Amino acid sequence: MLGDIKDISLASNGSKAIEWAAREMPVLMQIKKRFSSKKIFKNVNIACCLHVTSETANLLITLKESGANVQLCASNPLSTQDNVAAALLAKYKIPTFAIRGESNKIYNEHLKKVASMQPEIIIDDGADLASLIIKSQKKYSTKLIGGTEETTTGVTRLKAMAMKNNLTFPVIAVNEAKTKYLFDNRFGTGQSTLDGIIRATDTLLAGKKFVVCGYGWCGRGIASRARGMGAQVIVTEIDPLKALEAVMEGFEVMPIMQAALSGDIFVTATGNINVIDKESLTKMKDGAMLANSGHFDCEINLQELQNMSKKINKVNEHIQEFVITNNKKLLLISEGRLVNLGAATGHPASVMDMSFANQALSAEYILKNKDKLLTRVYDVPEKIDNEIAKLKLKAMHINIDNLSNEQKKYLESWE
Ligand code: ADE
Repeated sequence: MLGDIKDISLASNGSKAIEWAAREMPVLMQIKKRFSSKKIFKNVNIACCLHVTSETANLLITLKESGANVQLCASNPLSTQDNVAAALLAKYKIPTFAIRGESNKIYNEHLKKVASMQPEIIIDDGADLASLIIKSQKKYSTKLIGGTEETTTGVTRLKAMAMKNNLTFPVIAVNEAKTKYLFDNRFGTGQSTLDGIIRATDTLLAGKKFVVCGYGWCGRGIASRARGMGAQVIVTEIDPLKALEAVMEGFEVMPIMQAALSGDIFVTATGNINVIDKESLTKMKDGAMLANSGHFDCEINLQELQNMSKKINKVNEHIQEFVITNNKKLLLISEGRLVNLGAATGHPASVMDMSFANQALSAEYILKNKDKLLTRVYDVPEKIDNEIAKLKLKAMHINIDNLSNEQKKYLESWE
């Protein structure tokens, strides 16, 4: 069977993890039932570049049972759960190309393998698959009708491609759905980032100065959860509106150069490069911990950190100790790659349920509307977003009120 994974003997353990995640993915399970009974993706080639986790596995199984030919590669070299990759290949017969800790070279080879299945739909997280296909147009994408994108960074890249007229197929920005970013980015990243930092370091957050760089939806989640654990949270921002929101939420807001002097733990969640740069690294306290929760490992200037260091020690599986001038030690978690998937298992299934429901329904939307869609980046249709919110509430056994006729009339009147 086509695929490249670490160890097939991990498959039975991986199957258990996939089944465990499914218990907390009721919306996706409902979609799976509808899709599989109608085989809505019969013989459709779907190439997926996603974090290879137990939650992702449930999306892939949904697509496969709906008739699609699916293949999967990792969307980050360090996020793969090898047991899940083994189960996908051995039990579910899904060609999977992902090995935790793979080199950038292998990562790119895996991307190429999946791109070469001649996909009709791509499901991407970070836009590496889309970029590869666009850069090498003719080779990979003669049948492509559209794609979906999971994350903020990927949507930013795709919008940049569209602006420069480089985009060659319609894309649905799953990240922009309210049932995605308000939950996955905020509560998912919030919880799983702290989970990663704690699993890697065993550190107590209470009383620590915890610096969050970026107050987007991920940064908000991280800041709020760190405060909940008793940390004194400092936020750094470049956007005046977001900075003001952070201030009024009760966080200290200051430039990174100032935060560098007092922070115990630093987490980046900006989607930008060199947010923690040489100057701020130089100012940091001995023992400061550094982590990144953004998609790419470019938010902490790793090259400068290396250049500054006399010695690099491996403390444990997740921590490197950089010894810089005056014997000062800076501790880097998960190589500066996304800490929630590097040192923990990513967002919990309950929140990925909504993200992947958006992915599945957006892929269906692309198939149904393939003749109408233009080459641009679309938001997820509001109908899909609302439907997912309703299904999630229902699965949680939560009822809400309905507008009365009198209230509807009142809202429609101006007098
Ligand atoms: N992104 C963040 N957490 C994730 C998870 N558990 N599965 C897939 N993608 C993710």
